[in-house]
Amino acid sequence: METAAYKMKVTDAFNEAASTYDRMGVEFFTPMGRRLVERVGPRPGDRVLDIGCGRGATLLPAARLIGPTGHALGIDIAPAMVEEARREADRQGVGNVELRVMDGEHPDLPARSFDLALGSYSVIFLPDARAALARHAALLTDGGRIGFTSPVFTRDTFPFLPPMFTELIPLSLLGHLPESWHPERLHRQLHSWLEHPADLEAALVQAGFTDVEIADEPVPMTAVSGDAWVDWSHTQGMRLLWQHLPEAEAAALRTRLVTALDALRDGDGPVSIAVPVRYVTARVAR
Ligand SMILES: C[S@@+](CC[C@H](N)C(=O)[O-])C[C@H]1O[C@@H](n2cnc3c(N)ncnc32)[C@H](O)[C@@H]1O
Repeated sequence: METAAYKMKVTDAFNEAASTYDRMGVEFFTPMGRRLVERVGPRPGDRVLDIGCGRGATLLPAARLIGPTGHALGIDIAPAMVEEARREADRQGVGNVELRVMDGEHPDLPARSFDLALGSYSVIFLPDARAALARHAALLTDGGRIGFTSPVFTRDTFPFLPPMFTELIPLSLLGHLPESWHPERLHRQLHSWLEHPADLEAALVQAGFTDVEIADEPVPMTAVSGDAWVDWSHTQGMRLLWQHLPEAEAAALRTRLVTALDALRDGDGPVSIAVPVRYVTARVAR
């Protein structure tokens, strides 16, 4: 798919999802964002750029840590997400935050104007993220840092779900996910630069970073039921996949997923899935 058309699809999907994004009784992006911020440790007075900020899962905790002398700019390609983040910042009384609609792949911002760049589950949506990372490096001051998260891609699992779910999701659907997400074995043997830590590190070094640290940690995701999980999956990147399914196929996939997810519950208890997340941090090499 052509880049502009792909970006329009991503924008539409997140515009439609924005009002319920991460507010469906499933905890995932918010704890992940908090953990990313904890790992990079913004300092008082830092100027922070959050690329693909969504509703502020990393932007707001970072803004609190940098305090009134710091400045946090959140950019997102989806105007509805930017609106929700603005409302959330107001609701939480976080005043040092600015929000703008902007393509994070080509940020129109002054060189060397940020101490820290963040991108939780968002840098991974950029069609040519490796080239974009070099542009992100240029926005950082000397010694500036970057921190982003990604799914942990393995050859036989679908992001967010344990291996047993792989066979429940039609392979044809993977074509609707961002190219860099395709697990190698599942989709035309495409290579994902995010899959192997060595490739990821090489990409960051190539983009002008050093001191690359890659740590995979589980985020404990909980959902009150299989139905709640599937509803939630419509409010994030998987929406791109659902919207391509004819109604009957979507209904059948929903039934398969809900049945398998509910089988993981202990009676009426929640579904708990330890979802591996990759935390990547690096420092600009100047
Ligand atoms: C899975 S959400 C993550 C949002 C947020 N960082 C969080 O952790 O909740 C991905 C976000 O990336 C944004 N996004 C996707 N492509 C983008 C691009 N080219 N430029 C800026 N934002 C983009 C989407 O609109 C969406 O808000």
